[in-house]
Amino acid sequence: MSCAAGGAAGGTARPALASIPPAPLEEVPYVQTPQSVVDAILALAGVQRGDRLIDLGSGDGRIVITAARTHGARGLGIELAPHLIDLSNRLAREAGVADRARFVAQDLFDTDLSGASVVTMYLLPDVNLALRPKLLSTLAPGTRVVSHDWDMGEWRADRQVVVPAPNKPVGLERTSTLRLWIVPARVDGPWTDPRRRLTLTMKQTFQDVEAELRADGMPVRRLGGTVAGRSLRLFAIDGGPLVRLNGTVRADRIESRLSMGGGAPRRLALRRD
Ligand SMILES: C[S@@+](CC[C@H](N)C(=O)[O-])C[C@H]1O[C@@H](n2cnc3c(N)ncnc32)[C@H](O)[C@@H]1O
Repeated sequence: MSCAAGGAAGGTARPALASIPPAPLEEVPYVQTPQSVVDAILALAGVQRGDRLIDLGSGDGRIVITAARTHGARGLGIELAPHLIDLSNRLAREAGVADRARFVAQDLFDTDLSGASVVTMYLLPDVNLALRPKLLSTLAPGTRVVSHDWDMGEWRADRQVVVPAPNKPVGLERTSTLRLWIVPARVDGPWTDPRRRLTLTMKQTFQDVEAELRADGMPVRRLGGTVAGRSLRLFAIDGGPLVRLNGTVRADRIESRLSMGGGAPRRLALRRD
């Protein structure tokens, strides 16, 4: 008997796998981040004047209000529960930051994130994973993302700290794990410097990069490294003499310096093929 999806088994028609809707995401409950942990989140993200912070699922608005009051940032809280929006607006007025702390009643999956320089969240593992493609595709390279307690699956955090949380309302640990990600520029694919007749073909997995360097179409070296925001750092990983490439990614070009075998760095102006 065939077990192919969509085939008939025992005379009973079964729907194709593709037509089975994904399991609904678990509802995220309202749990407050203790104030000392709010301070640690904003410190880990390096929030400062000029930042535009969005807290996804903002509860009583404490992260947004603290970012505005203590760090001089502008903040936007996204929250489903209308009574928490009303409470946040009142607390923002009382803190004297109503002009820099806004709250919108909205589903966080419908929120335009493109203007944010910092995104914070205290959600659930599955919700983080469901959000991950949107974070990677809509946030500008270099945007800092901090999650309270939950990770992003295979997108490994760039920094992780565990902080005391003595009055945490959930869990037994009385600590909170905070993770920071720096949204990487997209570098996947081939790039060429026509003047030097060099091609760099990169395979990107989140912030990790493996690359092949070719000269006149011939493989020369294998490189590996990371892209942190717009900053690309690659090193030889093939056991040969030292190669180092440091670059800055700007949409369809990478301004970089390439040094090979201890020689002086040469400018490499790569264009996306
Ligand atoms: C764990 S609380 C975190 C509150 C606040 N960020 C903090 O750290 O204190 C999560 C919040 O997300 C809100 N929430 C859950 N699902 C949401 C959604 N799809 N869109 C917007 N807010 C949501 C909940 O109502 C709740 O207030």
